[in-house]
Amino acid sequence: MLGFKYLAFTAAVRGVVADLITNEPWPFDVTSISAPDGSVTAKFVSFGATMAELWVKDRTGVAHDVIPGYDDPSQLLADPAHPVFNAIVGRYANRIKNGTFSIPITRDPPADGPGVYHIPTNDHDGQDTLHGGIYGWDRRNWTLVSKTASSVTYHHLDAADEGFPGNVSAFVTHSVASGQLHTQVHATATEKTPIMLTQHIYWNLDGFQTNTSNWNTSDVLNYTLHVDASRYIATDSNGVPTGPILAVQGTPLDFLAPQQIGARWADAVDVCGPGCQGYDNCWIYDKSEQTTPGVSLSSDFSGIRVDITSDSPAVQVYTGNYLGTPRKAVHGGPTLTYNPHSAVAIEQQGWIDAINNPEWGIDQIYEPGRDFTWSTTYKFSTFP
Ligand SMILES: *[C@@H]1O[C@H](CO)[C@@H](O)[C@H](O)[C@H]1NC(C)=O
Ligand SMILES: *[C@@H]1O[C@H](CO)[C@@H](O)[C@H](O)[C@H]1NC(C)=O
Ligand SMILES: *[C@@H]1O[C@H](CO)[C@@H](O)[C@H](O)[C@H]1NC(C)=O
Ligand SMILES: *[C@@H]1O[C@H](CO)[C@@H](O)[C@H](O)[C@H]1NC(C)=O
Ligand SMILES: *[C@@H]1O[C@H](CO)[C@@H](O)[C@H](O)[C@H]1NC(C)=O
Ligand SMILES: *[C@@H]1O[C@H](CO)[C@@H](O)[C@H](O)[C@H]1NC(C)=O
Repeated sequence: MLGFKYLAFTAAVRGVVADLITNEPWPFDVTSISAPDGSVTAKFVSFGATMAELWVKDRTGVAHDVIPGYDDPSQLLADPAHPVFNAIVGRYANRIKNGTFSIPITRDPPADGPGVYHIPTNDHDGQDTLHGGIYGWDRRNWTLVSKTASSVTYHHLDAADEGFPGNVSAFVTHSVASGQLHTQVHATATEKTPIMLTQHIYWNLDGFQTNTSNWNTSDVLNYTLHVDASRYIATDSNGVPTGPILAVQGTPLDFLAPQQIGARWADAVDVCGPGCQGYDNCWIYDKSEQTTPGVSLSSDFSGIRVDITSDSPAVQVYTGNYLGTPRKAVHGGPTLTYNPHSAVAIEQQGWIDAINNPEWGIDQIYEPGRDFTWSTTYKFSTFP
């Protein structure tokens, strides 16, 4: 109790000090929201509009924090591993080939020329840009603009950051209700620019419980996954699209029928890159307008299931192949770490790098009069 009060006190003092020095609130202050029936509690920080904790109940009624993260949210900025725990990612999520695109879009734009843009590369030895550049939206100080007991809204002005054209003003609202979490984003642009966002939530539906003997809660391979997609985007060894759209049928990416994530694990070598075992791939949903869940994930151990319904046309599933940071205390940290495959990121987003693949016919260029919106609902339930 004392420890908690002390932490809350130091956070408050830091907030005041930050306020005095910069006239801005401390971006790592925690805001908690709860469903009126107590079924879901979520905590956020304005840095990255990031979810820091998410508490949902297992089949016995015990609540668990089902997302990895940090006890000290300022690690979202400081952790060099930068796993992008549970943040809003933009202005352009996922990978951009050579950090380059043009408006209007073209395949392999020239190094220079009208309408050609270069974003700092930060992935695979500078061969592509990942998650919006070196300081994408997940590492920016958003501003808390409103809050109720069950919802919080943050704003971010991206003023031509990282070399993208024009300003983008984005509002995100996170809310919880009985058995569900909902996040929605609305963004407006001052000139033509690509926008493609995601919410980068990693899931461990067992809350990394440490008091079990018969089940490895630091492994999501036994979780059951359903992805309502019969196609995926072919990528090169950097995870950058090469152009073809392929059928999942007969591959380890076929989750049309619910499967354990690890069901074809031996075949999932080189799937996420050379020598990499696991998934880091983009599936294209079969339904253009999702009214039913595009992804469902469940754990037989906790009995927790999440059904995800989004207006996004695609989803990246990343089996946490490179995780390795110290855990939150509630997950047994800091002596224990989040191992590879101990959480799975399920990222609702657009067709990845569509701005370098004009033949797909996907328009991700927004401008005044064409706003960007993104909306996803996560429904929680339990099963015996
Ligand atoms: C990659 O972008 C750089 C500029 O950032 C450019 O000089 C180079 O030619 C591009 N490489 C390829 C292969 O297009
Ligand atoms: C965000 O806030 C932190 C802490 O107050 C500060 O150090 C940092 O400079 C801010 N970043 C930006 C981009 O304003
Ligand atoms: C973009 O944002 C910057 C920084 O706030 C501001 O100075 C500029 O006027 C904005 N541009 C437009 C077109 O709104
Ligand atoms: C141990 O795990 C069970 C669920 O299997 C849970 O109900 C209980 O709260 C846990 N106890 C501790 C001390 O974490
Ligand atoms: C996965 O489930 C099987 C039974 O279906 C069990 O034998 C195995 O120990 C489980 N693995 C983990 C990592 O919990
Ligand atoms: C649990 O699973 C993780 C991830 O697959 C693995 O690294 C670890 O060795 C496993 N632990 C046990 C006790 O099986």
